[in-house]
Amino acid sequence: MQVIQDKNVLSAQLKKYKEDQQTIGFVPTMGALHEGHLSLVAESLKDNDITVVSIFVNPTQFDNLTDLEKYPRTLEKDIELLASLSADIILFTPTRENIYDGDITSKTYEFNGLEKVMEGAFRSGHFNGVATIVELLLRTVEPNKAYFGEKDFQQLQIIKKLVALKELPVKIIPCPISRELHGLARSSRNERLTKATREKANFIYNSLITAKSKFGTKSVQEIKESVTNLYENNSDFTLEYFEITDEDTLTPIKKIQENTKYRAFIAVYAEEVRLIDNLALN
Ligand code: PAJ
Repeated sequence: MQVIQDKNVLSAQLKKYKEDQQTIGFVPTMGALHEGHLSLVAESLKDNDITVVSIFVNPTQFDNLTDLEKYPRTLEKDIELLASLSADIILFTPTRENIYDGDITSKTYEFNGLEKVMEGAFRSGHFNGVATIVELLLRTVEPNKAYFGEKDFQQLQIIKKLVALKELPVKIIPCPISRELHGLARSSRNERLTKATREKANFIYNSLITAKSKFGTKSVQEIKESVTNLYENNSDFTLEYFEITDEDTLTPIKKIQENTKYRAFIAVYAEEVRLIDNLALN
């Protein structure tokens, strides 16, 4: 497995593969890799000749300096994990200066309101930071396909919009959420939970299952109340938001309509660790 730090070196290397008609798959990450990330890498390896994985903790998408500083960095372990998967991986680990060309700031994007709800409302500037780095990475790697997890469903929808808006020649491939044994969505943040809380944290997934079981028979308002009640009666977890939205527009809904796909989204604090999850309702 090759590890490349400089974007110009990476571009030159990839140009050779493209001239040989090799297809390139791309999996952007912030490292601290777990099975969720690796499931995206496995998808890319299946579909493409070469897979580029990037590891870059992107400062412009953090609205909080402590969160940025506390973000786990486990590069040696990440390299071992990737190397054990395949030799056809190129790992790209740019410095901030290199990938941002010295100007480490976010651009401002309009995503038709997708960026204003849920994560966008609670983490100011987050999606401008995400879109800025993903645009830079996509323009550097120029992959045929890029892989994003449904774990961050709102991010996935925003990336699809970004690609359409900027007419980037890449196919975005959504990948299903990888979960721990009892349902907790895998996340590098799970490592920050105590063992006791981590064992109880399937509560979050179960609350989404409860919402799904009521979908179609109860009103949106009733479902929201029952989820809110679950959290009011459990002191281990604090609910930040629970929303039911149209899957495409991410607009929170009041009424269910036919021929529309809906999804439930949740953000919860457990021991000051912020966790998110989502589930298709129909
Ligand atoms: P990161 O949180 O490292 O996630 C990298 C990719 O892995 C994202 O597409 C995310 O949705 C996916 N992923 C994480 N946990 C997953 C799980 N349990 N199941 C399936 N997929 C999962 O998302 C980012 O980094 C950054 O915002 C990034 C896109 C790299 C831009 O900086």
